[in-house]
Amino acid sequence: MNEKKQLRIAIQKSGRLYDDSIRMLRECGIELNNGLQRLKAEAYNFPLEVFFLRDDDIPEYVAGGVADIGIVGENVLVETQADVQTVHRLGFGKCRLSLAIPKGKKYTGVEDFEGKRIATTYVNVLEQFLKKKKVKAEIHEISGSVEIAPGIGLADAICDIVSSGSTLFTNGLKEVETVMKSEAVLIANKNLKSADLKIIERLLFRIQAVQQAKRNKYVLLNAPNDKLDLITAMIPGMKSPTILPLAKKGWSSVHSVIEEDRFWEIIEELKKLGAQGILVVPIEKMVV
Ligand code: PRP
Ligand code: ZN
Repeated sequence: MNEKKQLRIAIQKSGRLYDDSIRMLRECGIELNNGLQRLKAEAYNFPLEVFFLRDDDIPEYVAGGVADIGIVGENVLVETQADVQTVHRLGFGKCRLSLAIPKGKKYTGVEDFEGKRIATTYVNVLEQFLKKKKVKAEIHEISGSVEIAPGIGLADAICDIVSSGSTLFTNGLKEVETVMKSEAVLIANKNLKSADLKIIERLLFRIQAVQQAKRNKYVLLNAPNDKLDLITAMIPGMKSPTILPLAKKGWSSVHSVIEEDRFWEIIEELKKLGAQGILVVPIEKMVV
C-alpha cells in the first residue's frame, strides 16, 4: 500500500476560533474538501487532514498523538496543562479570561470575591489567580453555558472568556477583573517524526508569509527628484524601494512596503516631504 504522509491538525469544530482557523488555512492556500459530516476533512492541495473537535479536548488529543498539531486558545492550553509544545502564536482569537458579576452589583476590588461562589470551566487558571490575589472563593466547575450561572442562582460570579463582550451583555453581567489574556496558538505533539516536522515547517512558512503581509502595506507614490533621498530613507521597504522615472521631468515613482503600525505617521511625513499621489494597497502574501 502506498500510504500518503499527512499531517493531522485539530481545530475547533464550532465557536470563536473556527472561522479564523479555516480562513488562515485558506490564506495559506490550503483548500479543504469538506464532507457533509464535519468531523474530518482533507486538504486536496496540501498533506493535511483536519479534525474538528471541541476546543477543550484539543490539547489532550495533540499531547496523546490523536492529532499531530492543533489550533487552540492559550486559555484552553493553560487550563489543561497538556504536555505539548507551542509552535507559533497565530494573532487571531484574541480574548481574555475574566471575572464577571451581575451588572447591578457594586464592585470595589478583587477582595469582593472572598467567600463568593464563582462558576467556571477554567478551574486551574482561576485557582492560581485567586491564590496569587490571596482571595478564598468557592469555585464551581461547570462544563458549558457558564454565563447563565448567576441568573439561576448557581453562583455569584463567573470566570469565562470574553471576546466581543456580547455574551456577558446579553446575560446581564459585567467584566470586573482580567485573569489572563489569550490568543490562538499552534501547538504540536512533542514526539513528531521528521516527516511531520517537515510538513509543519512548510505550513509555518506559509502562516508567516500571511502574517507578514497583514502587518504591511504596499505603497506607491510620486516624488520630486530632489527629495528622493529623504523620501526613500523614510520607506526603506524590504531591501530598498523601487524607483522608476515618471514621464514628467524631475519626478519619480517610488514603490515600497511599510508597516501597518507606523502607516499614518509615515504618510504624514511623506506628504510633508513633497510626495504626491500616494497609493496604498494591501499585500496578500509576503516572503522576506
Ligand atoms: C467563549 C465563551 C463565551 C464566548 C464569549 O466560548 O464561553 O461563550 O466565547 O465571546 P463574546 O464575548 O464575543 O460573546 P468559546 O469560543 O471559548 O467556546 P466554548 O464553547 O468552548 O466555551
Ligand atoms: Zn471550550
